[in-house]
Amino acid sequence: MTVGSAFRFVDRRALVTGAGQGIGRAIAERLAAEGAHVVVADVNEDLAREAATALRAVGGSAESATVDVSDAASLASLGDLLGQVDVVVANAGIQTFGPLLELSVEDWDRVLAVNARGTFLTLQLAARLLPDGGSAVTVASIQAMLPNVMSANYAASKAAVVSTTKTFAAELAPRGIRVNAVAPGRIDTPLAQRANVELGRMVDKDPAQMLANRVATIPLGRTGRAQEVAAAAAFLASDDASYITGETLNVCGGDVM
Ligand code: NAI
Repeated sequence: MTVGSAFRFVDRRALVTGAGQGIGRAIAERLAAEGAHVVVADVNEDLAREAATALRAVGGSAESATVDVSDAASLASLGDLLGQVDVVVANAGIQTFGPLLELSVEDWDRVLAVNARGTFLTLQLAARLLPDGGSAVTVASIQAMLPNVMSANYAASKAAVVSTTKTFAAELAPRGIRVNAVAPGRIDTPLAQRANVELGRMVDKDPAQMLANRVATIPLGRTGRAQEVAAAAAFLASDDASYITGETLNVCGGDVM
């Protein structure tokens, strides 16, 4: 019997998309800290390279890769380079803001292309690269379950992530491959900081006040850290979650219960 190994990914290879910064980077760091070789993939080549270099500098095993998850050809060529991986984390995502009645078709399509299509394509790649018994984790959002004023396209895209996660989980279960989602609440990352400033500008409110109002509605009384999402993603990716599939785990300080 192995009790509580802190190194759940020794001898495993992991692919994390959108790993150049924010939550994806924290997931890459966590998996590497637990022994994985991590492929740090991002559409931003410089961010991916910096993150992989930083991981190696602290003794981790990592390489960088450039990929646009909304582009099937880009993901397919990454897949050809990689060979087998044991864990895939579909984290890359973007958000835009605007009142529903002014939301453009271009913004709708752009966000759905990265978040919904990107997750679908990354899971398709996972189905090709993962061995039987491998696991995949997607990154949804609590906004998948809520009305999302000023970002309807984002909420729809994340609902698609939850739904796609469940279907892949069902279709890949006969191979013992598990597919689960984490659904973060308000996490401090570059994306969330940009969102706060953009929303503040749109509704003519001070971003600091907006953040304080938001925090006041979170039961645990604070925003989350990327590392806290990474801990949940690592759990779902690991053998500790061996009987969990098709699940969405909220990481949101009780914002949604
Ligand atoms: P971020 O903007 O800080 O980082 C996202 C990373 O994804 C960046 O490095 C970016 O270059 C990369 N990326 C963007 N488009 C890409 C593409 N087409 N292909 C490959 N890489 C791409 O965002 P953050 O906050 O770290 O978000 C990560 C995930 O967590 C996203 O899916 C986001 O929707 C989700 N999330 C974040 C929350 C938050 O409060 N920060 C809350 C709920 C969900």
